[in-house]
Amino acid sequence: MHTKITKLFNIEYPILLPGMSLISVPKLVAAVSNAGGLGILASGTMSQKEALDAIREVKSLTDKPFGFGASLMIPGAKENVALALEEEVPVINFSLGKGDWIVEKTHTYGGKVIATVVNERHALAANRYGVDALLVTGHEAAAHGGDVTSLVLIPRLADIVDIPIVAAGGFGDGRGLMAALALGADAIAMGTRFASTQESPVHGNTKQAILDRSISDTIYTTKFDGMPCRIMETRHAIEYIQQTPDDADMFSTALRAGPAIMSAIVDGDLDKGVQLIGQVQGLVEDLPTVEELVQRVITQAQAIRSTLPN
Ligand SMILES: Cc1cc2nc3c(=O)[nH]c(=O)nc-3n(C[C@H](O)[C@H](O)[C@H](O)COP(=O)(O)O)c2cc1C
Repeated sequence: MHTKITKLFNIEYPILLPGMSLISVPKLVAAVSNAGGLGILASGTMSQKEALDAIREVKSLTDKPFGFGASLMIPGAKENVALALEEEVPVINFSLGKGDWIVEKTHTYGGKVIATVVNERHALAANRYGVDALLVTGHEAAAHGGDVTSLVLIPRLADIVDIPIVAAGGFGDGRGLMAALALGADAIAMGTRFASTQESPVHGNTKQAILDRSISDTIYTTKFDGMPCRIMETRHAIEYIQQTPDDADMFSTALRAGPAIMSAIVDGDLDKGVQLIGQVQGLVEDLPTVEELVQRVITQAQAIRSTLPN
């Protein structure tokens, strides 16, 4: 299946693994790239040594294109991006900051740049300073989706920019892929769905919690990490946000969130931890391998295309 995104990144299928801290690790990134998609490594709060080791590990596991993701407001993120540029990582994906300097440097070695955006203003700005594609995150998404749902956000941004769009937020199967293409996107990024695969490092208890929950079992709140953020609804998550003071500053709120995220992913302890998750968890019913999932999404999308009414 070929789109502007598969051509831009030289990949087989229009399916991306977005950056997810502690989840989009070298093994999962390489699995997605080896399956014909594009895996994006999450650098999160990595030190420079950890970022360099992770980039080199991905390179040892795949000879396919992959990406490096960074939230520019996290301390140390810019230095990590500089390292990824030295390593000539094929695709750089940045969020929460201005990435004009990344565009300039990435293009010197023939790499490509994706800006993650959630609204019209940031989409237009990134388009203006020369990014190659946008990753557009709708309200359904795990973590920091925008105010507007994918159904409305994707076609609006497709109308106002002249670069390819990767739709994120609520996509987990071939129906979602076809819908995204119909809305004007050129690919999908699946966070929650790839987090629920064999190769994902998410603890088994937490994977089971995803399987057990419905499309309604999430909370969208500023009281988890200081920004509007979607998390899994659990007894502990409700208590956690009740304990966050109304006037808590963003920095201390974000600091408190880090260990909670780690407990959920690494220890599978949802009595202490809080899991970032999207509404699409309610469509997750099994834990396939990455290869099985990618093939399933493509096969389902192709079947839909052949049965659409004239
Ligand atoms: C478990 C999990 C962890 C995530 N961690 C991050 C993160 O650290 N930084 C970030 O910008 N987005 C993070 N995300 C959001 C994804 O990058 C992506 O925007 C989102 O998963 C897309 O929506 P979906 O879950 O409906 O596919 C995370 C998502 C999940 C499911």
